[in-house]
Amino acid sequence: MDEGVHLMDYSGLFSSNTPLPVDMPAGLQADTKYVFSVTYADQGVFPTEGLIESLSKVIRNEGQTLSQYPPPQGHLGMRELIAGTLAGQRGAAGIDPQSIFLSSGAGGAIGAILDVFIDPGDVVFVEEFSYLGTMRMLLERGADVRHVPTDVNGMDTDALDRMIGEAIAEGATPKMIYTISVYQNPMGVTLSHDRRRHMVQIAQKHGVPIFENESYADFRIDGDPLPPAMLGMDDQDSVMYVSAYTKLIGCGLRLGYGVVPAPVLDSLKTVRFGGVPSHLAAMAVYQYLTDNREEYISDVAGSLRASRDSMLGALEKHFPSNTSWSRPDGGMMIWVELPEGADTMAALPAAVEADVKYNPGPVFRAERDRANYLRLTYSHNSPEEIGDGIEILAGVFQREGLFG
Ligand SMILES: Cc1ncc(COP(=O)(O)O)c(C=O)c1O
Repeated sequence: MDEGVHLMDYSGLFSSNTPLPVDMPAGLQADTKYVFSVTYADQGVFPTEGLIESLSKVIRNEGQTLSQYPPPQGHLGMRELIAGTLAGQRGAAGIDPQSIFLSSGAGGAIGAILDVFIDPGDVVFVEEFSYLGTMRMLLERGADVRHVPTDVNGMDTDALDRMIGEAIAEGATPKMIYTISVYQNPMGVTLSHDRRRHMVQIAQKHGVPIFENESYADFRIDGDPLPPAMLGMDDQDSVMYVSAYTKLIGCGLRLGYGVVPAPVLDSLKTVRFGGVPSHLAAMAVYQYLTDNREEYISDVAGSLRASRDSMLGALEKHFPSNTSWSRPDGGMMIWVELPEGADTMAALPAAVEADVKYNPGPVFRAERDRANYLRLTYSHNSPEEIGDGIEILAGVFQREGLFG
């Protein structure tokens, strides 16, 4: 560079309205062979041929529409299909496609909804541990995130009721109850039918909406059928709902959606629903699901069953008796507890060095505490690889002293 050249100084030009920094462990970005840290769509059953067929069929049928901008809430056929699935699979009949908006993954809908609700200091209730992406979005917006005790039946709604009462007594206006009510991320638990009813009553009583995230509802492997979504249990516009096709058909498609009551829809128009996702992606998913939904969902469940069983078997074989873990009947993750004092944050670089990634428990907490927990996902590697990866991880934890 010539000495006389002065580079542009950007330091005084950026908006002061940018998100607050939120620390994440660097190891999560590393490339490793064993990826137990991301809920990718299951590549073992990825429907390449089916997608090729669906895409050419739908482009033939309606490809001309791509010459224009898509409707602000996204592809109408896709939204009608979503309304049909919510009625047929999730017990939420009569959802108007006009209350549905398509988004860039579930994350796009979550971000847009948080944009219109959350100011710094706003109180939001979440499960004892909650999805790291939403946690990050909440912390970036300066929310006061309060974790509610959670057990095998999901969020403890008695505790929730009490905690909302306390927040209101402090003078706060709690903005929402954010819950991943099905195969919860990261704990794997499903909110029971009774607690769903109770949560809806609590929301209505206190005037605090539920934000229900059912990103994993398509991934029932075995066990009891899922209880219906709270979206269909409520008759007072108390529930906002989000889900996606990213985990089912492909993270790269970036197709998710939100379902919201009319006042929220109006507010979301001001942020343009966070941006409409690719119309081509919506068309492809619409056609693929129209032609293949049931069969594909059952293929995915079969594949996840083999992967889950391999991970459970490997944990049984390689993890010591002073550790414990969940036995999920759906979803894509296992929640592991190590002895008190184990530091899964500190051990991540050693695991990455050994070619394995996982999520340390603190990334699911506002206070970044509870480091003796970790989340392992099983939707990416083959069952054989999962067995090898867990053996390697056990070796790392042993060497690093996490097993006590
Ligand atoms: C509960 C939950 N919500 C939302 C997301 C974000 O999903 P998407 O890729 O559809 O934006 C994830 C991804 O892991 C998730 O687990």
